[in-house]
Amino acid sequence: MQIFETLQSMGHEQVVLCSDPVTGLRAIIAIHDTSLGPALGGTRMWKYESDEAAITDALRLSRGMTYKAAVSGVNLGGGKAVLIGDPRTDKSEAMFRAYGRMVETLRGRYITAEDVGTSVQDMEWINMETKYVTGVGGIGGSGDPSPVTAMGVYSGMRASAHTTWGSDSLAGKRVVVQGAGNVASHLVEYLVKDGALVFVTDIYQEKAKALAAKHGATAISPEEVFTTECDVFSPNALGAILNDDTIPKLSCAVVCGGANNQLKEEQKHAHMLKDRNILYAPDYVVNSGGLMNVASEVDGYDRAKVMRQAEGIYDITMNILLTARDRDVLTIEASNAIAEDRLRKVRHVHGTYIGSPTIRGV
Ligand SMILES: NC(=O)c1ccc[n+]([C@@H]2O[C@H](COP(=O)([O-])OP(=O)(O)OC[C@H]3O[C@@H](n4cnc5c(N)ncnc54)[C@H](O)[C@@H]3O)[C@@H](O)[C@H]2O)c1
Repeated sequence: MQIFETLQSMGHEQVVLCSDPVTGLRAIIAIHDTSLGPALGGTRMWKYESDEAAITDALRLSRGMTYKAAVSGVNLGGGKAVLIGDPRTDKSEAMFRAYGRMVETLRGRYITAEDVGTSVQDMEWINMETKYVTGVGGIGGSGDPSPVTAMGVYSGMRASAHTTWGSDSLAGKRVVVQGAGNVASHLVEYLVKDGALVFVTDIYQEKAKALAAKHGATAISPEEVFTTECDVFSPNALGAILNDDTIPKLSCAVVCGGANNQLKEEQKHAHMLKDRNILYAPDYVVNSGGLMNVASEVDGYDRAKVMRQAEGIYDITMNILLTARDRDVLTIEASNAIAEDRLRKVRHVHGTYIGSPTIRGV
């Protein structure tokens, strides 16, 4: 890997390699861009095949966080960390505390959180050594983000409905919700209240049945996801669900859901959806309620305020969809351009000298 060439082409500011042989710590902290604020992003623990694979993952994920924060109006930068190891067997208090001290050395340039392979317990160990950790006593407990994430997805879906059918309301629309987990549970509730006809599925059928029964939706099997006629397909399970196999089977007019990285290959599969006249609401935009939730910890958590902010994902999505339509570009191209524009303008604003008592003689 040509490390500096890669960092410069992807726009990263800093990558920190952390090692501690006594505790077994091997960590990579990637800070992509801090133009908007401190870099925030979770710590992922995974058995990477190689050091290079771990670095690549940290670089890709941290860059994604910059775009998510930029487009959603949050004043945070993009960062992500990865710990190399097996989350089932390689964890210890000492290792996470050693990692916490490394986070502390960055003095708030990077703030961490839970991610794949890490838990609240791990965050508590990190918090013994640094306050720059969310989701525990560190910066200020915001709790389960999924109701906020679901509100953002619902708001993005209403904007998508407006652009497609001329009305925000989902009343009478058939919505297939894939996944019956945390985000989907709240999303199904919001949709049913709006009058949508909701079909829900999960690989664990009992979860889908329980959720459907609770809100008056219909449970379907995972195989029926692509054969059930619908207006909206809402992926809320795992990534890469929009691919060569699945896109030709879609009967919907809109795809809008909370799952991360829905497009298996971003450009190719976004083009495939556009060619089939299916509106794709970019995942990182409509699921940014989770980030808004964590971001609000930094200034003192207020659930009502953050829910209102997540409702604002309606306007953010609408702006992206209309920009994409006006310029005849992909919706992901429009959202990336809007994120980059905000970054550029805030960097410019921060170029104004506002006085510093730390510089002698000024
Ligand atoms: N929780 C949040 O606030 C948040 C924020 C941003 C993004 N996301 C993303 O949203 C998605 C859902 O998050 P969550 O917190 O609800 O997770 P979760 O683990 O609570 O729910 C996911 C559900 O999907 C089911 N599932 C997995 N594969 C499936 C398949 N092929 N078909 C049907 N169901 C399947 C699982 O059994 C599980 O019930 C994830 O991609 C996550 O990264 C979540």
